[in-house]
Amino acid sequence: MTKKENKKKPFTLFNNETGQSVELPVLMGTEGPDVLDIRNLYKDTGLFTYDPGYTSTASCNSAITFIDGNKGILHHRGYNIKDLANKSDFLEVCYLLLHGDLPSPEDKQKFENVIQRHTMVHEQLVNLYRGFRRDAHPMAIMVGVVGALSAFYHDSTDFSDINQRMIACHRLIAKIATIGAMAYKYSIGQPFVYPKNNLSYCENFLHMTFSVPTEDYIINPKISKAMDRFFILHADHEQNASTSTVRLAGSSGANPFACIAAGIASLWGPAHGGANEAVIKMLEEIGDISRIPEYINKAKDKNDDFRLMGFGHRVYKNYDPRADVMKITAHEVLKELNMEDDKLLKIAIELEKIALKDPYFIEKQLYPNVDFYSGIILKALGFPTSMFTVLFAIGRTVGWISQWKEMIEDPINKIGRPRQLYSGKKARQYEIVESREKKSIFQWLWKN
Ligand code: SDX
Repeated sequence: MTKKENKKKPFTLFNNETGQSVELPVLMGTEGPDVLDIRNLYKDTGLFTYDPGYTSTASCNSAITFIDGNKGILHHRGYNIKDLANKSDFLEVCYLLLHGDLPSPEDKQKFENVIQRHTMVHEQLVNLYRGFRRDAHPMAIMVGVVGALSAFYHDSTDFSDINQRMIACHRLIAKIATIGAMAYKYSIGQPFVYPKNNLSYCENFLHMTFSVPTEDYIINPKISKAMDRFFILHADHEQNASTSTVRLAGSSGANPFACIAAGIASLWGPAHGGANEAVIKMLEEIGDISRIPEYINKAKDKNDDFRLMGFGHRVYKNYDPRADVMKITAHEVLKELNMEDDKLLKIAIELEKIALKDPYFIEKQLYPNVDFYSGIILKALGFPTSMFTVLFAIGRTVGWISQWKEMIEDPINKIGRPRQLYSGKKARQYEIVESREKKSIFQWLWKN
């Protein structure tokens, strides 16, 4: 289905030097900034645009998620994230992201049944885990195992067929939680726990992660609800780094499993999904409220590459609405677990209070983001910090696969192939080795 492109009066670019002018169409969405359509710019002017980090570039036309960074607004298919986090559940949000609307009661039940019956992974995959060292980072295991899924599910890689496309989407949503739980079990040397179809998505994830064969595992409904809300808050977030990675990988026709593996790899970075793990390490390093001013000064010091992890965002120049909900959830979980005097939470709250009054953070519009409080919840639930980004990936898989599906179904979809500003050497002649400079400049980087 071709997406509507509502045109406004064109924008005229004028080159003062050559007197050349070019008219660029302006396209209007349903919300947010209009876009300058530069698809013919190079053909008409011989010029590229230059936008490292894509700070001003709309890479696609999407109907899934809308963010207003100045107002701290996040909508999925028009629904406010706070309404979804407080009134919906994760599988219903998965349906919404994939299909565009909230499900009818019958479709909600059908979708839940489909996901519950795809939670098992191929038994051969167990051998893949055994190829990793026990101390392998769980994210390394996630990248490897998810990428390997295309070797097991040949019946859902021809995604020109809508049925195979949907099976791949359902399989990834269903299996990513199982794969994440298995990565955790493998890292602590405990046996894998099979999913149980009579449990909800989050009850099942907690069961596969924390139950052991030697005793019954009692699921705390408040903890399961907190996990569900955690996954909703991580489900999708417009064209962030990992989602853009999934789209670019998918634009070449790579299969969806390989594309999601690429997204997991991108999410791992500490500037992106790895920040939740980095926040806890930072709070533990600060160690005491009295040392907060020292770290605030480090974050402000241009000569110090220390940054306040969990603070700042490319889009939000206001409070990340997800951080708001996450902070409330952190209090609820710690209260439920009788951990209200958690030291890290106290440091986080004091750090936020001081930073938000500091002129540096105010001037640069740096606020807590989704990662600032999430690690406190996960630590309280008993997850090791190495699992934090795995949990982010479990929540975000539905966003990645929904964006991938939207791209595949977009009639104007084409392979992504950005250009560059070239600043290398001009053309030069080859010299044989004997006639080159004698002095050595090569620094052998490995210790002998
Ligand atoms: C996620 O894109 C998404 O939507 C991502 C995400 C999602 O759901 O997918 O929301 C999830 O990745 C959240 C972000 C998690 N990362 C962190 O918490 C790491 C710490 N934050 C920063 O590294 C940074 O804020 C970024 C990476 C998040 C955003 O970086 P930008 O937009 O490229 O901004 P920038 O690095 O150019 O910073 C602007 C200024 C700089 O100062 P100047 O060079 O202008 O003097 O603000 C400063 C930065 O030095 N700055 C910080 C800071 N973040 C930015 N200074 C101190 N501490 C920080 N955290």
